Amino acid sequence: MTENSLTFPKNFVWGAATAAYQIEGAWNADGKGESIWDRFSHTPGKIQNGDSGDVACDHYHHYAEDVALMRQFGLKAYRFSISWPRVLPGGRGAVNPAGLDFYDQLVDALLAANIEPFVTLYHWDLPQALQDLGGWPDRDVCGYFADYAALMVRRLGDRVSKWMTFNEPYVSAFAGYQDGIHAPGLHDEKLALQVAHHLLLAHGLAVQAVRAIAPQAQTGIVLDMFPTETDTDLPEDRTKVEQAWDRGVGWFLDPLLRAAYPPGALQAYGPNAPEVRPGDMALIAQRLDFLGVNHYSRHLVRNGQPVKPVPGAEYTEMSWEVHPPALRRLLLRLKREYAIPPLYITENGAAFPDAISPDGGVHDPRRVNYLREYFTQARLAMDDGVDLRGYFVWSLFDNFEWSNGYSKRFGLTYVDYATQKRIVIDSGKWYARVITRSNVE
Ligand code: FCB
Repeated sequence: MTENSLTFPKNFVWGAATAAYQIEGAWNADGKGESIWDRFSHTPGKIQNGDSGDVACDHYHHYAEDVALMRQFGLKAYRFSISWPRVLPGGRGAVNPAGLDFYDQLVDALLAANIEPFVTLYHWDLPQALQDLGGWPDRDVCGYFADYAALMVRRLGDRVSKWMTFNEPYVSAFAGYQDGIHAPGLHDEKLALQVAHHLLLAHGLAVQAVRAIAPQAQTGIVLDMFPTETDTDLPEDRTKVEQAWDRGVGWFLDPLLRAAYPPGALQAYGPNAPEVRPGDMALIAQRLDFLGVNHYSRHLVRNGQPVKPVPGAEYTEMSWEVHPPALRRLLLRLKREYAIPPLYITENGAAFPDAISPDGGVHDPRRVNYLREYFTQARLAMDDGVDLRGYFVWSLFDNFEWSNGYSKRFGLTYVDYATQKRIVIDSGKWYARVITRSNVE
């Protein structure tokens, strides 16, 4: 399939995504407060090569040029996140006017370029001041988050209508509090489950806060969906697939759409299950205007065992299998089993070992292939009746890939970190052609 035969509805939203800590840099500029990711990356031994987001792509100072780049791509939408400690250095209380101005100017620049802003309120960078008070295990932080959401909607709600409360609450809770590989770096399953519950509660409170100020706004949440699949009919494999669903996607989607945790997983967690107060589940299950799906890959089990590597399969630099049909199956499962709102793919993309060629370009045929195949599966799911409204490629440019530092390149644009030069690479040029040619129906 070529980009000429990839056809999507005319109003399909083609975009690219980023997150504040991964691109902004300026970690302590103009009154910004410290975040848990500043603290974590400044702790020796936490991040590959001792990297940090201190400078990153220095997007804070290069945003105008970066919006021009987006315009060159022909992007219809841009998904970015707000750094909570940039606008509220202490997490609550006094605002930082320079931080608010930054997002104000970014939004204006996007609108002037005809690019719709999709704003994520929380992409993992909790103000360190709130961590010092107890962080997400402390229920009070949910209220502070709703206050922060209200602040941003009051400031930007006249121009921004798409709001996402959380990015990947699973990763925030479990990578941060159970596996210890993300900030704040703890190893405690019980705490992770309580954090997950508080993230969901904070989501519910924030949705209410957004709607109270901007009733016409569309509010959603973004979940990571890295499903476990099997290609056998063995009951033990089926069970593994379902257990993984209930502890992963289901742990968040069931409360959001069914006002209940998956019963089997809840029971299996035993004494580590979160404390749930009366009224919590109803608060979490606010109506969603849309759901964001982040999907990169899948896990495979056979005969009760994980299969890795899958013989003959291609893997990205993240050691994630390239298996596009899993996207279609995932979207169909969501449609079949849940009363889902309209969907957006809010992240999909691949890290490959990109390098500048002697001709000055970056040639990444594997990423072109990856994107083409995933786009195709998304299109097929739409033919099957899935209400998919848009697709955001991760990422607009190379950036700080969390505990992997700068070692993984996901960008449609190559970033030379020494000079901050941006180079649009082959897949970026290909994507720009998809955007101009694909919306034909
Ligand atoms: C997702 C994150 C995003 C990026 C990609 C590769 O889990 O949301 O920030 O790091 O993975």
